[in-house]
Amino acid sequence: MRKTPIVAVIGAGLIGRSWAMVFARAGWTVRITDPNEAALRAVPRLVRVSLADLARHGLVADPRGAAKRIIPVRTIAEAASGADFAQECGPETIADKIAIFGALDAAAPARAILASSSSAIAASKFTGKLAGRARCLVAHPVNPPHLVPVVELCPAPWTSRKTVAAARRIYERIGQVPVLVRKEIEGFILNRLQGALLAEAFRLVGAGYVSAADLDKTIKDGLGLRWSFMGPFETIELNAPRGISDYCARYTGFYKRLQAAPATPEVYATRNTDRVIRSWGAPLGDSRHAAKTRWRDRRLAALAAHKRAQAGFKKTR
Ligand SMILES: NC(=O)c1ccc[n+]([C@@H]2O[C@H](COP(=O)([O-])OP(=O)(O)OC[C@H]3O[C@@H](n4cnc5c(N)ncnc54)[C@H](O)[C@@H]3O)[C@@H](O)[C@H]2O)c1
Repeated sequence: MRKTPIVAVIGAGLIGRSWAMVFARAGWTVRITDPNEAALRAVPRLVRVSLADLARHGLVADPRGAAKRIIPVRTIAEAASGADFAQECGPETIADKIAIFGALDAAAPARAILASSSSAIAASKFTGKLAGRARCLVAHPVNPPHLVPVVELCPAPWTSRKTVAAARRIYERIGQVPVLVRKEIEGFILNRLQGALLAEAFRLVGAGYVSAADLDKTIKDGLGLRWSFMGPFETIELNAPRGISDYCARYTGFYKRLQAAPATPEVYATRNTDRVIRSWGAPLGDSRHAAKTRWRDRRLAALAAHKRAQAGFKKTR
């Protein structure tokens, strides 16, 4: 790859702007495009503000330099010409993904990998007819990727191993944490885990076992403290003296009973979601919603800086 690689970011919404900062702070030139002129025009100002926030936490060395590397352009062809990588961040519909990937496959050099940020649409649903389908995959981030590094790589059956390996290397090099979804599955991994937790949360609050506020405390002041630096398997490994097999022998009796009567789709029926919403309280309103989003991003930046400063546990085996 050339000295200053180029990424085409397609879509300048929430996720596109965030990916642009991830690549730019890692030294890439970013060409970003969006058919909505107002969205494209807003990019330089919005990324300058967010990069300055990141700099306050030591998460970008040269925020001005990074902002200058993000260049708005008018068309997908302009963004993709000469690019080494494309990160698609357009609307979450199959029709939009088909149109954008058609344009990308036509304009990007053969060496370029074409990655979609799709939250839920498998790559096989929109890349099958492309000449370059072997270089396409989903690379699903978590909002916002400049603060939450995991990215789920989910290849289609026809994505080449070379593409997956190269995408993994690139995301690692730009500071993200790629995980491989070995075969396509709805919701990939992260949203299936989130879905399992949410379904139980809606059940417990809707059925009156706990308030919505207290349920949130069990995560943010309980389970979530460990989860910010350990996964669920690492967690249970330490919850029994002889590790995971010991944990399974001791505790899965309860989990088996729980799984025998899982939360049903009814937990999302209006009469139940209304009960949960009543327990939670009034919506924030636009300005407090925006203020809380900024507060979340500052807390995430502080947490990212803290995690970066800590050593991971070294496995000796
Ligand atoms: N928001 C999230 O939490 C989140 C998280 C992970 C992944 N994603 C995925 O990322 C993608 C983008 O989501 P978002 O939240 O940034 O949405 P968004 O609505 O903020 O941004 C989408 C942008 O795409 C633009 N657009 C529309 N048609 C286009 C086209 N033909 N070419 C290029 N751009 C076009 C729109 O003008 C808009 O600015 C979606 O696939 C979404 O599922 C979102």
